[in-house]
Amino acid sequence: ASSIDLAVIPGDGIGPEVIAEAVKVLEKAVAAEGVELKQTHYKLGAEHWLATGETLPDEVLADLRTRDAILFGAVGAAPGDTRIPSGIIEREMLLKLRFSLDHYVNLRPSRLYGTVGSPLANPGTIDFIVVREGTEGPYVGNGGSLRAGTPHEVATEVSLNTAHGVERVVRDAFRRASARERKHVTLVHKHNVLVFAGHLWKRTVEAVAQEFPEVTHDYLHVDAATIFMVTDPSRFDVIVTDNLFGDILTDLAAAITGGIGLAASGNINMDRTAPSMFEPVHGSAPDIAGQGKADPTAAILSAALLLDHLGYAEAARKIEAAVVADVEKRDGTARSTTAVGDAIAAGL
Ligand code: NAD
Ligand code: IPM
Ligand code: MN
Repeated sequence: ASSIDLAVIPGDGIGPEVIAEAVKVLEKAVAAEGVELKQTHYKLGAEHWLATGETLPDEVLADLRTRDAILFGAVGAAPGDTRIPSGIIEREMLLKLRFSLDHYVNLRPSRLYGTVGSPLANPGTIDFIVVREGTEGPYVGNGGSLRAGTPHEVATEVSLNTAHGVERVVRDAFRRASARERKHVTLVHKHNVLVFAGHLWKRTVEAVAQEFPEVTHDYLHVDAATIFMVTDPSRFDVIVTDNLFGDILTDLAAAITGGIGLAASGNINMDRTAPSMFEPVHGSAPDIAGQGKADPTAAILSAALLLDHLGYAEAARKIEAAVVADVEKRDGTARSTTAVGDAIAAGL
């Protein structure tokens, strides 16, 4: 196709600040390829909820379904903001999008670029991807509370794991590993305690591995995985894991590779039955919002993942190269969000 019908959801806090830079870079990258970029911007998020009481209306979801892809900033109020129930936007808008649009592959790459500061003394080469399950696990909202507010309260959160859901994400991880140099998959779970889900994941990995004789695989309990991510991150190539473990591990992965401001992600529907959505791993960062100091690099790299998904690999590589060139020049001097976006756009 020579045009992209893009949905843009800037969201709250630093979301609009970083998305403005990502759109700037995206526009320039696709113009160079002669591709037309049509944009529809959507007002959604905590601020929108405060103004209208809407989370994600059905008509808006239906409209989003007609787009080729979604570029998403971040949503959510400051923790402690009493004007809005905690997590309502995260669950009823962001997770609703991931679930409704069947974003079963939450792809989160981690790479340490050149000299950018890793807090690790000996980081070595860090280049792995986390394939985080995106539609199941403890995120399904399958729980409840009995006798709430009493001394006899009982609260449950049930993790949902289906054979179908686990198999499709595990197969995706093996496919991605097969296309990489080291061809190695690490399953991260906690099957010593989470017996039923853990064994479903383990059996599924063993079964799918038979289809990929060229790919090696191993297993780590999630607690041990956090040790190795800090002491020996170069051991990882492709990590496949459930929704919650993947959430936690990818903030850690961001921290060891130069910070949360660099970490990109895709919520991908590999069957292409609905548009995929690309967003930085970070949130709305209320502590720095409105100050023009958020790093837009994660949002810009998410736009590159978006282009990859739509088949514009060359434009995606150009954005990545411009990011690497910019990141390698960083010396700790503070730059504004716009200055970083301008520098990356200029480097295309
Ligand atoms: P956060 O990721 O917003 O912020 C954590 C820390 O990282 C903060 O100190 C912040 O200033 C810093 N940070 C984040 N992005 C940065 C950037 N681009 N450049 C520089 N520094 C950056 O996480 P939080 O504080 O736990 O959550 C804030 C709100 O965002 C909450 O409402 C939460 O639910 C929501 N949230 C949304 C998403 C999303 O929309 N995908 C993701 C995570 C959190
Ligand atoms: C992320 C966020 C979300 C998640 C929240 C805001 C629902 O932390 O994208 O990593 O847990 O998936
Ligand atoms: Mn997270």
